[in-house]
Amino acid sequence: MSQPAVASSAHETTAALASGAASAPRSSMATVITGELTPPRSPNLLRPHVVEFRNVTKTYNAGKAEEFTAIRDVSFVVEDVADKGEFVCVLGPSGCGKSTILRSIAGLEPQHPATAGDVLVLGQPVVGPGSDRGMVFQDYTSFDHRTVLENVTFGLECQHLPRKQRDELGREWIQKMGLNVDTDAHKYPHELSGGMRQRVAIARTLILKPRIILMDEPFGALDPLTRLNMQDLLVKLWKEVQATVFFITHSIEEAVFLGDRVYLMSNSPGTILEELKIEPATCPAHEMQRQPKFLEAVYYIRDKITTLESNP
Ligand SMILES: Nc1ncnc2c1ncn2[C@@H]1O[C@H](COP(=O)(O)OP(=O)(O)OP(=O)(O)O)[C@@H](O)[C@H]1O
Ligand SMILES: [Mg+2]
Repeated sequence: MSQPAVASSAHETTAALASGAASAPRSSMATVITGELTPPRSPNLLRPHVVEFRNVTKTYNAGKAEEFTAIRDVSFVVEDVADKGEFVCVLGPSGCGKSTILRSIAGLEPQHPATAGDVLVLGQPVVGPGSDRGMVFQDYTSFDHRTVLENVTFGLECQHLPRKQRDELGREWIQKMGLNVDTDAHKYPHELSGGMRQRVAIARTLILKPRIILMDEPFGALDPLTRLNMQDLLVKLWKEVQATVFFITHSIEEAVFLGDRVYLMSNSPGTILEELKIEPATCPAHEMQRQPKFLEAVYYIRDKITTLESNP
């Protein structure tokens, strides 16, 4: 069974290099390979980059006394991988601008528009929200007055899909999310646990098959066991929908398990300090978390963050 490995690449900081973080001892190099910066390739017109940030800065309340720069000069590219979206995790301290980046991709105000730089989705500048992007928030956003089925099919209703078709699809997705169609479909959000509500929120997004799924700490409020189950479910569904996922988390373990690529962010004003490539998970999260190579990858990132934080 292959195990996860981390390849350190883009945005290697002077601080990290100076501290020797990039030249870790041989034993930990079993899973950590230092690599080249991801080259800023020119986009192929037939396969434009899925998401691209070009020197993006966001200053809230610009020109006012309370003006605050949340992210500065952020640049990265997520390429279109044929027949498979990438799973991109963003790790960083609280307040470093993770949600600012995610909501800029979503085209949500006030994060959108950026103060400077370009936010591109599928080769086009973001002008607002669009059906190519779906967002899942931390706080299980559902419509309280709608049943599970009505919540899951909300987007299809907005697209004017006939009731029969959307209910069929809705039931299919309720089942895929591990909920019980017979007993759960007609419940209201207040009758569900946190984990169940988050399943409904994810189903509501995935049923629309967005090209890009934006998830802002979706499992942050779940208990550890439910969280691991949700991670497994997400990996399974992500393979099915083949979307590019942007996933914000504070959990290094979660990022290593889920991510193909992890961006490490600095304190505010946030920048991407480092990009790490991770081998895909090969077994369920609870098994993965016991494997030495998984733990090595987690410790590597933890050390990296400590180094980056002590060399701002
Ligand atoms: N609408 C806003 N107006 C003013 N400042 C804002 C606004 N939204 C965010 N900020 C500030 O910008 C900074 C980055 O916020 P953001 O929500 O992007 O951080 P984050 O990395 O997602 O934090 P957390 O991990 O706590 O969710 C914070 O200092 C926050 O107070
Ligand atoms: Mg946030």
